[in-house]
Amino acid sequence: MANERETGGRDVTATPIISILNGPNLNMLGTRQPEVYGRESISDIEALCRAHADGQGFALEFRQTNHEGDLVTWIQEARGRASGIVINAGAYTHTSVAILDALLAAEVPTVEVHLSNIHQRDPFRHHSYVAKAAKGMICGFGSHGYILALDALARLIKGSSQT
Ligand code: DQA
Repeated sequence: MANERETGGRDVTATPIISILNGPNLNMLGTRQPEVYGRESISDIEALCRAHADGQGFALEFRQTNHEGDLVTWIQEARGRASGIVINAGAYTHTSVAILDALLAAEVPTVEVHLSNIHQRDPFRHHSYVAKAAKGMICGFGSHGYILALDALARLIKGSSQT
């Protein structure tokens, strides 16, 4: 049986928590540039994720903020408590060393998500600070990217709990 040291202090007998964190302007989904981001609202995406996470046996936290510091605080809170992070940091992806540092300190498996394919867009969107701390990135699949990210985390978490 895994002890606390092996699990980074997490209680492996409890339902694993996945924290889905969304950054600035994602509260505008549905009306914001639908040709780029689709017509689903952030609540639609939350409902999609909750239904999928239920099936996987995860407890889900789903949050959105327009403030960089909130994202930093939520990432810090995930340390030792959440089994995985899915993050769409919006425009902070391309600017925030603070979010990168928080993710590096958190030591929680992280999957980066973008609704749009950031590599087909403006050159300033091609670089991601988040990517340096993430296990991988999913971009260009719209809201389905969140589901792919949950599946990727499920595999990582199952893999890490095998003795
Ligand atoms: C985004 C891509 C970012 O470049 C942009 O600033 C966003 C949304 C996406 O989900 O495609 O706000 O993260």
